[in-house]
Order: sequence, then C-alpha cells, then structure tokens
Amino acid sequence: MKKINLSQASKLTSPNPVTLICTQKEDGSTNLATVSWWTILSFHPQMVGFAMSKKSYTGERVRATRSVVITVPGSELSDITMKCGMTSGRNTDKVADNRIEMMPLGGSSIRIPKHSRIAIHCRLKEHHEVGDHILYICDVQQVFGDAEVEALFSWNGYAEVAPAVKG
Ligand SMILES: Cc1cc2nc3c(=O)[nH]c(=O)nc-3n(C[C@H](O)[C@H](O)[C@H](O)COP(=O)(O)O)c2cc1C
Repeated sequence: MKKINLSQASKLTSPNPVTLICTQKEDGSTNLATVSWWTILSFHPQMVGFAMSKKSYTGERVRATRSVVITVPGSELSDITMKCGMTSGRNTDKVADNRIEMMPLGGSSIRIPKHSRIAIHCRLKEHHEVGDHILYICDVQQVFGDAEVEALFSWNGYAEVAPAVKG
C-alpha cells in the first residue's frame, strides 16, 4: 500500500452512494444538488446525515427551512445527476433549465424528481462545521422506496455516475 489522501481514497471506495438533495427555494420550487456523502445514522430514532460544502446553496436552504428530501436517483437520471452537481441553484433554476420531470411527495411541500429509488423526508435537527464542509444531522419524517428503479452510484470520486453491478 502507498500513502494517499482522503480525496484519493474516495476514488478507491467507488462506487459510492449518490443522492439528489431536494430543498425548497424562496419561490416554492425545488433546488437539486448532487451529494455523495450521506449516511444513515440511527434506526431508533430514524436519523440520517449528509455533508455539504459551506458554499452550497442547498445548505443555505436547509438551514433556512429546516426541511429537506434526500432522494436516490434512478438510472434514467444519470445526466441530470451530473448536471445538478456542477451548477449552483443560487443563480440558476436547475429543474426548469434541465426540464426535470418532478412529482409531489406525500406529507412534504418539496417536489422530487420522477424516477427516484428512495425519498427520505427529513427535518434538520442540528448542523456542525466540519472543516470545509457542514454536517447536517436530520430526523427522518417519512421514507418512500421503489425497488423497480435501478439506483445510481458515483464512480471515480465525483467523476461519473452509473449503476453498480454485483460482480
Ligand atoms: C457525483 C457528485 C457527487 C457530489 N457529492 C457532493 C457531496 O457529497 N458534498 C458536497 O458538498 N458537494 C458534492 N458535490 C458537488 C455539489 O453537487 C455542487 O457543489 C453543487 O453545485 C451544489 O449545488 P447547490 O449550490 O445548488 O447546493 C457532488 C457533485 C457530484 C457530480
């Protein structure tokens, strides 16, 4: 083995999870941001966490509204998943610009992309600065799933997204 850094290690752990984090903009529309660094934290009570750059618009919206939906995109959404990770919703409308088909989620005012495998509706519990990121710790309100949708994963760090096949 040779000495590497964490960024290089994230390439060696590929495929990594990938999500589209859905938050509500001031006009009620949804902003989508691609996030790999999320995890289940607790089953009892149900809690999840994710880490986002301090500069992200998503973080700003989560802190303002305290509400967020974490979705796992299906394979139909591979282009969109990459695009939502390359621009900020602060000055663009990613959903309209990319003509992303959205659908309502019961119990939440945040709309989510069609073709999602999982949707976890959460309430922000607390957030902590962790170096150049902020860790968002959330209480889970409701979880929805569709096993027919094939999940995407991120490969080679953030370089590409594709399904994972059991080898
Ligand atoms: C595959 C992929 C995974 C990503 N994972 C993360 C992540 O875990 N945390 C993060 O802060 N940014 C991550 N990004 C970058 C954000 O999606 C990007 O900064 C985005 O522009 C943030 O959008 P926002 O400003 O609308 O929130 C990822 C990008 C890609 C393409």
